[in-house]
Amino acid sequence: MIPFKSPLFLKDQISATELPCHDNLLIIDRAVAKNMSPEFLRAFPFVYLVDAGENLKSLEQFPQNLSEILQVWKTNISRDHTIIALGGGSVGDFAGFVASVLKRGVKLIHIPSTWLAAIDSAHGGKTALNVQGHKNQIGTFYPAEKIYIFKDLLFQQPSERALDGLGEMVKMALMDTPPFISDLGDAVEESSENILWRYLEKAIAGKYKIVLQDPYETEGLRKLLNLGHTMGHALEVHYALPHGQAVTQGLFFALAWSRERAGFAEDDYEKILKVFAQLNLKSQIQENSFRPLSKETLKEFLLKDKKIDGSSLIDFIFLRAPGQAVRQKVSAEEIVAEAARQGWCQ
Ligand code: GLY
Repeated sequence: MIPFKSPLFLKDQISATELPCHDNLLIIDRAVAKNMSPEFLRAFPFVYLVDAGENLKSLEQFPQNLSEILQVWKTNISRDHTIIALGGGSVGDFAGFVASVLKRGVKLIHIPSTWLAAIDSAHGGKTALNVQGHKNQIGTFYPAEKIYIFKDLLFQQPSERALDGLGEMVKMALMDTPPFISDLGDAVEESSENILWRYLEKAIAGKYKIVLQDPYETEGLRKLLNLGHTMGHALEVHYALPHGQAVTQGLFFALAWSRERAGFAEDDYEKILKVFAQLNLKSQIQENSFRPLSKETLKEFLLKDKKIDGSSLIDFIFLRAPGQAVRQKVSAEEIVAEAARQGWCQ
């Protein structure tokens, strides 16, 4: 088994020289490939272009994708071969899954092209496919052999993508021991991209600290990484919010609730709201730019997810103090009641 902590290489400029191109397959987001130099792409003998997004992860589409891969990768594939996944979270989830099952597991290298993938999804070995529109129902734990993070690739993204990255970065900082979260607030004179680049390794190290204690999510510890994700996921689905921005909104919800449910101190809460403001992360409720969900819609959404895993209670992640995330079972009704109290639904 490949160790869960994949060796990490951070470089300023993308180049194929260190990558094992020979005989291996590059799976790359078509939109990202458009911005790559012809020399980079020419270095790979076998390239499979994909359209990033949830459709790429569809189980129903998977046989077609796999047969196309086998047509493109014209070599006698063995377990010594490597898939190099270059793209954001959906490309990494899909390519990682393919790598984990093809020939019972070929090698895998991740090159994340988005802040979200660079901070979160490329690390920790989760791969996933969706089943009939339900996210991540099929998957494997299959850590990459190596992860390359190229600064110029990440900085190619439109600047609004940095807001997505900041959502996951702030989440990691809240879970880490202080003063990570206040350091982020102190870095405000820099651009969001510079802040993300500066603290990227620290956020990744925080994720590994948790993943290595509970790599297969059997102890519940790894679930703490879902701080901000319960409400965040509902908003992501219903308002098509980008994942990181939805997580930011979910964090506002979880932190406010944590004061009553987890003893999160009021002055810590105020300090953290100040950091959010310094980073230009705004609560849509405070901005009055939010159309509340109906209580029925939220409850149905929360229970639909639960129907799939067969239980009725939801693991909700609260923050007891900076660096101390805790998990509590709550009912969908309790979440809806709190969401209504805070104004997220009515
Ligand atoms: N993104 C959450 C995890 O890797 O467990």
